Amino acid sequence: MRFKDKVAIVTGAGSGMGREEAMVLAREGAAVVIAEINEANGQKVAKEIEDFGGKVLALQVDVSQSKDIEEMAKMTLDKFGRMDILVANAGIEEPFGPTHELTETSWDRMTDVHLKGTFLCCKAVLPQMIKQRSGKIVTISSVGVKLRAPGSPHYLASKAGIEALTKTLAVEYGPYGINVNCIAPGFIVTPMWNVLGGPDGEFAKKVLQLIPLGRRAEPIEIAKVVAFLVSDDASYISGQIIGVNGGLT
Ligand code: NAI
Repeated sequence: MRFKDKVAIVTGAGSGMGREEAMVLAREGAAVVIAEINEANGQKVAKEIEDFGGKVLALQVDVSQSKDIEEMAKMTLDKFGRMDILVANAGIEEPFGPTHELTETSWDRMTDVHLKGTFLCCKAVLPQMIKQRSGKIVTISSVGVKLRAPGSPHYLASKAGIEALTKTLAVEYGPYGINVNCIAPGFIVTPMWNVLGGPDGEFAKKVLQLIPLGRRAEPIEIAKVVAFLVSDDASYISGQIIGVNGGLT
């Protein structure tokens, strides 16, 4: 029970990696706040956690909306009284395209959900973590930032921004005992791949050929790294971008 008496917020916990992250943290004793835009999926995960006796609060939030995130922080404190862990995991994908064909709307959506959303969530939990003189934050980037892949500049620019934000936060809040790290996942089989032609589509096949371990990963393989990073075992790790990508970079 590594997370007994800890309170964790996981954004985008209604699906994919976020779901597994919420489950792993809850199974190891954390009270988990599911901050998810898809209410039905968030409730479904909350029910699963309740079914094994875990403590959970499901909130419908849009991470790109400051009002939602401020309310999330307030409700977390009202219900559980503290904040120990934030996993800023929520994310979206959109069809690929060269830069000159991207719409402004698509660019804004990507940066709002990923970069602004991560900023707003960190901003909302930091005051309480400073008060507690401890905290663990994990942000989520992508292997694509290092790969220099074409066709997804809005996604990759926002993810690169998250990496820079993570390093800044580690420096700013290290003195308060707060560790901030980022995971850059590779090819993880989740519903997000449906937008990219599916986990068995043409694009997926090309990516698979580049992975030294020769396979895709399951969401639990990311969730276990998140759990490690927010545990005492990773007490001296901060400001790092951790690639979990089967050797791709
Ligand atoms: P997913 O699509 O299964 O889950 C994403 C979740 O975020 C969904 O439940 C969705 O409803 C929620 N969400 C979307 N917009 C939101 C918003 N504005 N506010 C709150 N919740 C919102 O995707 P997956 O793959 O689990 O993605 C998790 C994170 O991992 C994302 O940040 C993604 O960019 C990143 N990632 C995924 C990779 C993959 O291969 N699946 C590779 C690299 C990074």
